[in-house]
Amino acid sequence: MFELTNKVAIVTGGTSGIGEAIAKLYAKSGAKVVVVGRNQDRGEAIISDIKKDKGEAKFVKTDVTSNEEIKRCVDQTISAYGTIDILVNGAGIHDKYHNVLETSEEDFDKLMNINLKGAFLMAKAVLLTMLEKGKGKIINIGSQGTFVAGPGGATYVTSKHAIFGLTKQIAYDFGKKGIQSNLIAPGFIETPMTEGIDDERLKDIPAQRAGKPEEVASMALYLASDTSDYAQGAAFTIDGGWTVGR
Ligand SMILES: NC(=O)c1ccc[n+]([C@@H]2O[C@H](COP(=O)([O-])OP(=O)(O)OC[C@H]3O[C@@H](n4cnc5c(N)ncnc54)[C@H](O)[C@@H]3O)[C@@H](O)[C@H]2O)c1
Repeated sequence: MFELTNKVAIVTGGTSGIGEAIAKLYAKSGAKVVVVGRNQDRGEAIISDIKKDKGEAKFVKTDVTSNEEIKRCVDQTISAYGTIDILVNGAGIHDKYHNVLETSEEDFDKLMNINLKGAFLMAKAVLLTMLEKGKGKIINIGSQGTFVAGPGGATYVTSKHAIFGLTKQIAYDFGKKGIQSNLIAPGFIETPMTEGIDDERLKDIPAQRAGKPEEVASMALYLASDTSDYAQGAAFTIDGGWTVGR
């Protein structure tokens, strides 16, 4: 039902976890996918998986804290595939739980540069191409920490609240020109980021289990497809119900 034939998508954080699942599902749904990450070997392994499945994808090694690398990535996407229809800002890190007093200025800057500034720079780099064609979809990855304080810690929660602000502002500024900007707020998802986290946390989830990256990818497919054309500036929670109890 949801399909992306001939669409061109850039997926940051595409070499593991949620981003990898999104990149693979997009390719399976007909998109040409640029997988963005920092690890060449992981990137090539994912491209090989996608090609085995008859999909089309390229890996472009990019650190989202570097505006220069981001611009090069966008240029390479346009040279390879001619345009950009979809951007998924999936790159992110999670600091250990720290309150404000426990958080150093360096740790704050490091996390913000990836989780927030990286998404801002990526959006800035693709917007002109999207505006020229009068259509484009930007999908940011938030978290439960987009809505509530708690297990994320001071910097992570701050970054995930802020990325919803960025999501809404892009919708406000560019919605009338055909740009859609939405946010996915996943709960506890089984990825390398949550490896080793205590199962105790799962007890609070009405679904009584962690989510799978593929379940987040399904929502990202909806938001990338034409079916979601009326979705704008919104947060789409997928957390097994965790936030309803907060
Ligand atoms: N796993 C969860 O439970 C969960 C819950 C809510 C939100 N999220 C969010 O989902 C997104 C994906 O996380 P995940 O769980 O798949 O974790 P993950 O660690 O598997 O994926 C994060 C990816 O981002 C990449 N990345 C980090 N810094 C980067 C940089 N500077 N440049 C380019 N890439 C960089 C990593 O290499 C990795 O591939 C993150 O934004 C995370 O905050 C995850």
